[in-house]
Amino acid sequence: MRILAIETSCDDTAVALLEGCSAIAERVYSQEVHSKHGGVVPELASRSHMKILPGLVSDVLRAGEMDSLEGIDVFAATAGPGLTGSLLVGLAWSKAAAWAAAKRFLGINHLAAHIYIHYGLKRQVVFPAVALLVSGGHTSLFRMNSWQEILLLGSTRDDAAGEAFDKTAKLVGLGYPGGAALDIAADGGNPEKYPLPSPMPDPSLPEFSFSGLKTAAKQLWEKGADRSDLAASFRRTVVDLLVSKLMYQCELLGANSVLAAGGVIANSLLRKELRWECSARNLELFLPDREHSTDNALMVGRAAAAILERNPEAFSPISCNAFARWSGRSLSPIGCP
Ligand code: KG4
Ligand code: ZN
Repeated sequence: MRILAIETSCDDTAVALLEGCSAIAERVYSQEVHSKHGGVVPELASRSHMKILPGLVSDVLRAGEMDSLEGIDVFAATAGPGLTGSLLVGLAWSKAAAWAAAKRFLGINHLAAHIYIHYGLKRQVVFPAVALLVSGGHTSLFRMNSWQEILLLGSTRDDAAGEAFDKTAKLVGLGYPGGAALDIAADGGNPEKYPLPSPMPDPSLPEFSFSGLKTAAKQLWEKGADRSDLAASFRRTVVDLLVSKLMYQCELLGANSVLAAGGVIANSLLRKELRWECSARNLELFLPDREHSTDNALMVGRAAAAILERNPEAFSPISCNAFARWSGRSLSPIGCP
């Protein structure tokens, strides 16, 4: 089953060609136009997707030695959550291509797709599992009883962890999006230098709050804090919150596996702590490489492959529309019911 997967939910334009769950070729274009604005400008993001997407599709087809869309069995695209204008570009492209090639189309949920990067691997997830999804827009914990049953345990009440990283990075002059730059700056700093408040520290509460932490960092910076030490203290506090709450849920639910997903999973301290804690507790850790932590289309393709494995006839209606937010309790890879 050949799948052409498209991801345009925010400011990364991504395309992947898959045979089942295996990547044949993939491309990601990270839009740089936003950095000078200090944040994603939705209209610029949509326009950039419009410009970049066709070329990426051609590149991926060429890399897969295909000269047309004829050989594609299923077209899949992220339907939401995300920026509506950005989503519409990938979604409309994918639906139009499916229609023109008389093939099926599947609309995919972006949050589920992040977790489905771990689907179809040789090493199988042993359930129950707990998934930690930490990105620029979301910070959530999920209980996974199976691939079909992914239940929300709790989310952030305000900023997402990635958003807090980005805002703090911008504050200390590391540009936008600065999560990765803050991570690098933190490597040279002392994490004990500035004790930051730990909002909602109770590990038994599967919810997060990061906006107060960002404000505390701002006050320290304005008093002349050292950049690397502040970055290190900030990173330490966020990682401790994420890991302690994740581990508490693993123990409570008797989990066998941990699935880590989302852009913040690229963080070097978080990766180190996850490896350490999971190994100490005998938990199977599923950690995507950095390229597949941040937005990519392979995860969209794997989510589509999972839907098709369950129901080989599955398809989304051609009227499938973009959605900006997800507010359910039970997460499914199907983005368009
Ligand atoms: O998953 P993603 O690509 O997009 C969303 O779905 O939001 O996540 C992007 C987020 C950004 O906030 C970015 O700063 C953050 O992931 N990020 C990092 C690192 N690399 C990317 N945050 C902390 N440390 C990193 N190394
Ligand atoms: Zn994402």
